[in-house]
Amino acid sequence: MNEQLVTAIKELKEQKNAQILAHYYETADIQDIADEVGDSLYLAQKGRDSEAGIVLLAGVVFMAESVKILSPNKKVLVPDREASCSLVHGSPYAEYLSWRQEHPEAIAVTYINSSAEIKAISDVICTSSNAESIVASIPKERSILFGPDKNLGHYLAKKFSRPMLLWEGECEVHVMFSASELHRLRSAHPDAVVLAHPECNEGILQQADVVGSTSRLLKEVHTNPAKQFIVATEEGIFHQMRKMRPDVELIQSPVDDSCGCAHCPYMKLNTLEKIYDALRTEEPKIHLSQELLELASVSLNRMMDITDGKTVDWPESFVPPQL
Ligand code: 13P
Ligand code: SF4
Repeated sequence: MNEQLVTAIKELKEQKNAQILAHYYETADIQDIADEVGDSLYLAQKGRDSEAGIVLLAGVVFMAESVKILSPNKKVLVPDREASCSLVHGSPYAEYLSWRQEHPEAIAVTYINSSAEIKAISDVICTSSNAESIVASIPKERSILFGPDKNLGHYLAKKFSRPMLLWEGECEVHVMFSASELHRLRSAHPDAVVLAHPECNEGILQQADVVGSTSRLLKEVHTNPAKQFIVATEEGIFHQMRKMRPDVELIQSPVDDSCGCAHCPYMKLNTLEKIYDALRTEEPKIHLSQELLELASVSLNRMMDITDGKTVDWPESFVPPQL
């Protein structure tokens, strides 16, 4: 059945000149049919630069919205419109706007795991792979508001010894890793390299040998000669890790959850069947108003410019847009 579906998806993709981009947290079958697999930044860049008429993003909706904001003339499809993110749910527009208005002089740095509306009231976006260079580019005398992920914000504030006002949002998957259980696991595997995504709590990050984006953690597995890795991020990443290093033991960092798994329920809404249907019907597609596209593109393009090594200007103070 899967084989037939995979063939049908490939045919449809060819017929419609579509490109499939998938995140590392998707299931193995989805990663294997994708044209590109990557982290949030890579998928945004590939989507923006794609020459295909249709980009189907198998990930979560904010990732597809980012492609649409960077490249508004493209048709951007998602397998399931409900594939959201706890960071998006935890940052409602009206409350985020009030917080922003309380600190009009600050630079608002916003994690890409956010709605298009929040991006529209932000000064610059970051992903887990470029967050350090984004923060480093902000003039020292400016104060920083960081949201919606408090753990990534706290990690950056500590790294740069720079105070930041943090929004209280969190990833419901990464905060489930247990620091005490990780401590026990490390004692049992003293030679293992501990890898953690910066959305994890501080108790996990303090024990990690490498903290980074999904692509950074994969790079470590690829290049580090160690034979055991303890991994504190979503389990979908094991697929590429196993492909890269079939010779190593990969151990999931223990999770405080009844299923004991590090499973993003939003990423896992996507299936091959839904991908096939989305390509066939060209729905669900990302639609954002012209005004929202323009407003959100300012902060997202500022991130892209900094990432490309360009110098950028910063607004003196926040002027709320009419949304
Ligand atoms: P990356 O950009 O590191 O792939 O992270 C995306 C994400 O949603 C992590 O939970
Ligand atoms: Fe959002 Fe967490 Fe899922 Fe990433 S793993 S998409 S941050 S809920």
